[in-house]
Amino acid sequence: MEMPVLVEWATPTDEPHMRDLLDAAELARHDRFVRPEDKARFVTGRFLARTVLAERTGLAPESITFTTECPHCAGDHGKPRLPGHAIDFSLSHSGDRVVLALVEGAVVGVDVERESDRDIDRLAEMVLSAPERETFAALPPGDRKRAFHVYWSRKESILKATGHGLAAPMSAIHLSAPGDAPEVLSWDDDAAVSPVRLADLSLGSGYAAALAVLTPHPLNVTAGPSSADGRTMSGT
Ligand SMILES: CC(C)(COP(=O)(O)OP(=O)(O)OC[C@H]1O[C@@H](n2cnc3c(N)ncnc32)[C@H](O)[C@@H]1OP(=O)(O)O)[C@@H](O)C(=O)NCCC(=O)NCCS
Repeated sequence: MEMPVLVEWATPTDEPHMRDLLDAAELARHDRFVRPEDKARFVTGRFLARTVLAERTGLAPESITFTTECPHCAGDHGKPRLPGHAIDFSLSHSGDRVVLALVEGAVVGVDVERESDRDIDRLAEMVLSAPERETFAALPPGDRKRAFHVYWSRKESILKATGHGLAAPMSAIHLSAPGDAPEVLSWDDDAAVSPVRLADLSLGSGYAAALAVLTPHPLNVTAGPSSADGRTMSGT
């Protein structure tokens, strides 16, 4: 048996028909973002989630309300969920990409990272496990930026599936090498769960992206930009 995973991605835009689907708390958050690009990433993600979930459930998109309870402090900033349904989804945005992953009967996390020239060697100390740091150090310098972002997106997708986010240490997760099929080799931490299935996503040059599903079943990922961008641009 395979676990179907739907992935849709869009380019961020911020149009009135998209904002019309936000609830009061989301509109307030939208207003608090200062930069237009942050507003667009936020509204595109929530619009994408509502439209895809409406298709799956038959609910009207404007009637969908997410819960976002944080498991650590009960604050209102945790993983968005659709209460009352066996559907789990995850959102991520970076640069010109907004991505949604959705599963039924399991939990999912997705992460996209625009590759940047931030201080990768210093960040690698925080993100990578000891064996991964050895693998990373042995790579040609020109391959390290890509490798770092592949590690990062795979690990963050796992921690977004569990809902921990960056509150749990990424360095406790030991993954297969960036050029190999993604796999958790070991994970020794309070946040650890098993089994985890991973898949890399192709969201275009300059982006690393991955998803994680907490399931023993192999993943069957259907990914594409077309319908997401079509809905975002036309509002249909
Ligand atoms: C979740 C988290 C990793 C996202 O980091 P990021 O790289 O900036 O952002 P991404 O674009 O990949 O993901 C953001 C999306 O993840 C989702 N999200 C938020 N919190 C989440 C969580 N705890 N787990 C999974 N997904 C989460 C939201 O959909 C959010 O986007 P939206 O609010 O615009 O819809 C980061 O915000 C985090 O670590 N949060 C939890 C920290 C925490 O719990 N601290 C303790 C508080 S008491």
